[in-house]
Amino acid sequence: VAAASGHTVVLVDQSDEILKKSTKGIEESLKRVIKKKFADKPEAGAEFIKKTLKNLTTSTDAASVVHSTDLVIEAIVENLEVKNKLFKTLDKFAPEHTIFASNTSSLQITKMANATTRQDRFGGLHFFNPVPMMKLVEVIKTPMTSQKTFESLVDFSKAVGKSPVSCKDTPGFIVNRLLVPYMMEAVRLFERGDASKEDIDVAMKLGAGYPMGPFELLDYVGLDTSKYIIDGWHSLEPNNPLFAPSPLLNKLVEEKKLGKKTGEGFYKYK
Ligand code: 3HC
Repeated sequence: VAAASGHTVVLVDQSDEILKKSTKGIEESLKRVIKKKFADKPEAGAEFIKKTLKNLTTSTDAASVVHSTDLVIEAIVENLEVKNKLFKTLDKFAPEHTIFASNTSSLQITKMANATTRQDRFGGLHFFNPVPMMKLVEVIKTPMTSQKTFESLVDFSKAVGKSPVSCKDTPGFIVNRLLVPYMMEAVRLFERGDASKEDIDVAMKLGAGYPMGPFELLDYVGLDTSKYIIDGWHSLEPNNPLFAPSPLLNKLVEEKKLGKKTGEGFYKYK
């Protein structure tokens, strides 16, 4: 999305194999975007893809490419220790002015900012799945984020065509604080045998106008991601029934049934 809006992007991941898969995924996604955006101008669509991919390079070594970046958006595993280790390293190699942002779904931005020496140039930029389609970005300001950094993050969100909202550094920010307990309540409703998962999904689509039912959405987001979020909040507030872990969710994750990405979650995918 950043490359498509004219930004120079270096996509970093752990191996060339993953990067190849990611680039392929981006190409496929761009093809879906142009089908809609340039429906009657296929040549302009092809040019858009070419231009976008030209803005995108890849690397497996974040420390060696961070010297030329104005903004780092971290979207690695939801594990504070691993994130902090990465941020500490990048902090040593990044230019003074570079802003660091995390796309975390549920961890505290303040704790990551404190792993660096640039607490004033650190904030949250939380995108939603699927990023090319979802218009929202949550911009998170910690008590240490400077107004200038916050405004830069808001401006960047607008420059990539999104609508930013702001939220304090609280668990789940706005969307996940409401969405994750709702999805967990759906799992509990199913676990109690009150309704089938298919009926719960149909009910929320046709009765509440949601584009996906909670089980479809859990599979789409990833059951591992959902479990990371709920486990983290449960450890913060063990007595909050909305944050209680679910035996069924835990079992599926243990069986590596993580949703769409592994071919099976609550539902099976071919
Ligand atoms: N890339 C590009 N274009 C895409 C796309 C993608 N990944 N996904 C969908 N599209 C576009 C394409 O043009 C597609 O047409 P195509 O299938 O012919 O290529 C078109 O959208 C329509 O898609 P679908 O026919 O699959 O279905 P929908 O009309 O229902 O739209 C949806 C798909 C936008 C995903 C919609 O179902 C939706 O809004 N779902 C809810 C998503 C949601 O709630 N996301 C938030 C998750 S929570 C989260 O991300 C936070 C995190 O921290 C956990």
